[in-house]
Amino acid sequence: LWQCAGRGGCHVTILSSSELDGLKHAAAARAVEEVENGMVLGLGSGSTAEIAVQVLAERVAKGLRVQGIPTSAKTAALARRLGVPLTSFAEHHHIDLSIDGADQVERGTMNLIKGLGGDLLREKIVASVSDRMIVAVDETKLVDHLGGNRPLPVEVVSFGWQTVFDHLVAIGCVPRLRLAGDTPFLTDGGNYIVDCTIAEIPDPEMLDANISAIVGVIETGLFIALASKVMVGRPAGVEVIE
Ligand code: 5RP
Repeated sequence: LWQCAGRGGCHVTILSSSELDGLKHAAAARAVEEVENGMVLGLGSGSTAEIAVQVLAERVAKGLRVQGIPTSAKTAALARRLGVPLTSFAEHHHIDLSIDGADQVERGTMNLIKGLGGDLLREKIVASVSDRMIVAVDETKLVDHLGGNRPLPVEVVSFGWQTVFDHLVAIGCVPRLRLAGDTPFLTDGGNYIVDCTIAEIPDPEMLDANISAIVGVIETGLFIALASKVMVGRPAGVEVIE
């Protein structure tokens, strides 16, 4: 983690994986504090969102009444195992609060890059119908500008995915088909993911529109103006951005 402070210059802090887990836990626990009785919740995916489900399960065991709509088969299985009641869009078209992680959070705008876990489509559907989306991250996810060191995941239809590559290159991305071993990684919806390496993104909204306009693209990992609050786990405590 690069940290820069005034005239003190910049230095690198190396966080161990257990320190990182501690930061994720603190952020996730703070997010779950916002859950109230009777809420329909969006349950995110990824390691931080899974911690949130664990913390939520502890509150459910003590009598909290909520129902969750999971954003992945993995989160659904975890919630079931821990006794968090689940529901679906067949019963509820509207979500009170969703809690999810992110791969990058742009500090000034709370715009996000998501999808390194491959669940961006369901996560975005859930976020888009949520009154509030709270994002829980460790401080390594916070950036001044999206892009750069993290690729932008794009979910594409498997048929003709090669044709999408040409358009992405024209937009300025370096596309790479995500693999699981020797075969293409498949999302829960049975689609492929193309990871696009791109320099800093000056206008995420325009990039999202340009990529979404490519035939064969299902959804991008750019989450624009969807987050209402970000809980950032830092060694000194949780920073709340809103
Ligand atoms: C999955 C996601 C995750 O929320 C994102 O990858 C962050 O995961 P983690 O908390 O494990 O770093 O978008 O599609």
